[in-house]
Amino acid sequence: MRIAYSPDVPVADGHVLVVFAGKDGVLGSAAAGLDAQTGGQVARACKAARFDGETATLVELFAPHAVGATRVLVAGLGDVTKADASVFERIGGALAARLLTSGEVAVTVDFAGVTAVIPLGEAAAHLAHGAVLRSYRFDYYHTKLKPRQLPTLASLTIAHAPAGTEAPHARLSAVAAGVALTRDLVSEPANIIYPESFVARAQALTAVGIRIEVLGEVEMAALGMGALLGVSQGSVREAKLLVMHWDGADSAAKPVVLVGKGVTFDTGGISLKQPTGMEDMKWDMGGAGAVTGAMHAIAARKSRARVIGVCGLVENMPDGNAQRPGDVVTSMSGQTIEVINTDAEGRLVLCDVLWWAQQQFAPEVIVDLATLTGAMIVALGHEYGGLFANDDALAAQLQAAGAAVGDKLWRQPMGEPYDRLIDSQIADMKNVGPREGGSITAAQFIARFIKPGVKWAHLDIAGMVWASKPAALWDKGATGYGVRLLDRFVADNFEAE
Ligand code: BES
Ligand code: MN
Ligand code: ZN
Repeated sequence: MRIAYSPDVPVADGHVLVVFAGKDGVLGSAAAGLDAQTGGQVARACKAARFDGETATLVELFAPHAVGATRVLVAGLGDVTKADASVFERIGGALAARLLTSGEVAVTVDFAGVTAVIPLGEAAAHLAHGAVLRSYRFDYYHTKLKPRQLPTLASLTIAHAPAGTEAPHARLSAVAAGVALTRDLVSEPANIIYPESFVARAQALTAVGIRIEVLGEVEMAALGMGALLGVSQGSVREAKLLVMHWDGADSAAKPVVLVGKGVTFDTGGISLKQPTGMEDMKWDMGGAGAVTGAMHAIAARKSRARVIGVCGLVENMPDGNAQRPGDVVTSMSGQTIEVINTDAEGRLVLCDVLWWAQQQFAPEVIVDLATLTGAMIVALGHEYGGLFANDDALAAQLQAAGAAVGDKLWRQPMGEPYDRLIDSQIADMKNVGPREGGSITAAQFIARFIKPGVKWAHLDIAGMVWASKPAALWDKGATGYGVRLLDRFVADNFEAE
């Protein structure tokens, strides 16, 4: 969607015109002007709709009297003393959802008289951002969509635009592009996105200044990554370790390292999953997808931080060469693992990737993202990602970044009694504990591969990557969760001046 900011009065002819109302449906100045122009149509419509101005609710008037607009939307701003970035994003999202396939081509939002608790230039840019995020579609494989099902909305203009939209707009455009990349990677089926093709897509990040490094199975075997390779050995697809470097700060600076679980399809392996819903396991690379999208965002907005994204890309399949329950593998760290359940593969991938990344980059902090456990969804549903951390300050930084952008996190407990549950009779540890506290024992497993003194956080995002129903900033499908969170985490904590 094309976004424009114009200081001029709105163009109404042939456009959808959007005006605002506050708490209790009190019309803003632009809305009141329009009401006068239409002989009171706007107020009557609001009354008929029992509109109370609640945030991101809309009243729609078609072909209003004495105005050239195709339709007028009155958008609820809610309590203006709470009108922050997320309020404006939700309004933009609501407009996009309403208009995307409506037949309308252009929408003009009249910002005259708007007040907010953030600078108005930022408010306008966030409204546009919400509209861009909500208008994402993954339509590549539909060949028979009827004209009325196709997107029509092509441009959004903010009229009476406040000053100061340029910088936030540029920053948010970079973030939106990162979110779209993640959603594409997550949405693609596993016959299209597998380790090698994931890497090929990530090569596009060189265009924003990222340096890509790729390790194949020969290199990983030489490094001793027996845990990751054990997962991959039942698949005909070659595993890849994808490394994305962004040097926004001097290269002597300790980097922030972001690690993603990239299981491009998870059948469960020999511990085969049941068929119902197995198609969802195409998005078991959602952690890697989020890291890749975040790297795009961070680079495209030229962040002044040193950030490295590392993705462990494998396919978990059950063929004649697949690993068996009971197999013992040796991780790169030297620690041995009894593979009780081949479906607990994510931690086997992450343990080698995390070890390698710590050894290679001596990170300031390391954060991994993974669709790691179904138990996380049982615990938190689809509202919060689970946050595990060995450092309270790091946990607070991540939680604050998530709250600021709407990618919410809820901290989970860790500790020695949980750790004990993954001791093995035959090896240093086993890859599953009891059913109870399954997300926590998964985190404890990963923690055994964090070197002393390294600040680490693990985000179990199993419930957040995919949505079964539409929300404010996405349709059903891939959410792009994690991109805005990681971008904000880096922006708020690691950028030079
Ligand atoms: N990728 C799954 C976790 C998952 C499940 C993510 C549902 C999203 C939706 C993971 O690899 C897995 O299979 N975990 C097992 C662990 C168990 C065997 C200890 C699980 O959660 O059932
Ligand atoms: Mn699994
Ligand atoms: Zn998995």
